[in-house]
Amino acid sequence: FDGQGQGVWRYADALPLESGVSIQEGATPLYEVPRLEESVGVEALRIKHEGMNPTGSFKDRGMTVGTAVARELGVGRLACASTGNTSAALAAYGTRGDMETLVLLPAGKVAAGKVAQASLHGARILEVDGNFDACLDIVQDLAARGEAYLLNSLNPFRLEGQKTIGLEILEAFQADYGTFPDRIVLPVGNAGNTSALYKAFRELVQAGSLEPEEVPKLTGVQAEGAAPMVEAIENGADEVRRWDEVETRATAIRIGNPVNAPKALPGIRETGGTAIAVSDEEITDAQRDLAREGIGVEPASAASVAGLRKLRAEGIVDDDERVACLTTGHLLKDPDAAAAAGAEPEPVPADTEGVLEHLQN
Ligand code: F0G
Repeated sequence: FDGQGQGVWRYADALPLESGVSIQEGATPLYEVPRLEESVGVEALRIKHEGMNPTGSFKDRGMTVGTAVARELGVGRLACASTGNTSAALAAYGTRGDMETLVLLPAGKVAAGKVAQASLHGARILEVDGNFDACLDIVQDLAARGEAYLLNSLNPFRLEGQKTIGLEILEAFQADYGTFPDRIVLPVGNAGNTSALYKAFRELVQAGSLEPEEVPKLTGVQAEGAAPMVEAIENGADEVRRWDEVETRATAIRIGNPVNAPKALPGIRETGGTAIAVSDEEITDAQRDLAREGIGVEPASAASVAGLRKLRAEGIVDDDERVACLTTGHLLKDPDAAAAAGAEPEPVPADTEGVLEHLQN
């Protein structure tokens, strides 16, 4: 079986299994972005583009582990609630591992590319008349009743795989700069990645491979219309208040009840990080900034860069920091958002003279 010993599975020692259901996930690029680095105004800025995974998001790192555990357990049906990316990854890894998949999606709130993936990879898709949080409530009930094996980020094996994002970033910074990043900025929905990266860093500290003061500051970014984690950080609260009404163009993080908050809040606080909310306009501007560097991301992904820019402008991030921003999903996941953020195609006649004339205007 290919994919073993590479990508995510290069870190098998840090994972609960030796090998998984693999489609060659992980080992994603850590791009340099000189113009963006300059305009944000930090010592170093790198983009860890998780959109370059097999199904176009970081979810593959969790699914390669989670579906392998499910296969070992011999479960019949895998299920998840999803804003889209989890459903695409579950469908692909489920079918690769020869298991049945069921996905619950908030009706009308999932980007086109993601539904298409879940559909073509053979998931049974239920469109729920409610938001993501309602979908997750139902899937948790189904799992509790023994109807399905849950593969949302509440499943700890998902987060084990996602730890490898942090391990790759640390290794690459060490190789390129001789130090670890001061800060990792990431979009937050259910706060799975925040929890996973924190766990990875704690394990490295315990193993003596990382000094406590070298742990990067975990910095979470949410959309203003779905920012319960930011609210909790700003209020110094121990618990996150569930938001019943959520809205943002970044549909991937249109989430009001971040289920991993109990693990993620300490991660942000104890690493000296913070959390910030950004507007949909700031997200789209950051999506354009990344696109200008040749990096195509979906809106939720651009939240990390939008948040970094804002924190730098507010002086919370210093100009001497070395920062990694996580971009979580590929541009093609949400073609409608990309087209809306880009320029309109111009209609021209089908002859060279007509084209030349048009170009003069
Ligand atoms: N970015 C993208 C592109 C996502 O799809 C998600 C979550 C997040 C960020 C948030 O990550 O939960 O670790 O804080 N998407 C889930 C889904 C909810 O169903 O695809 P988190």
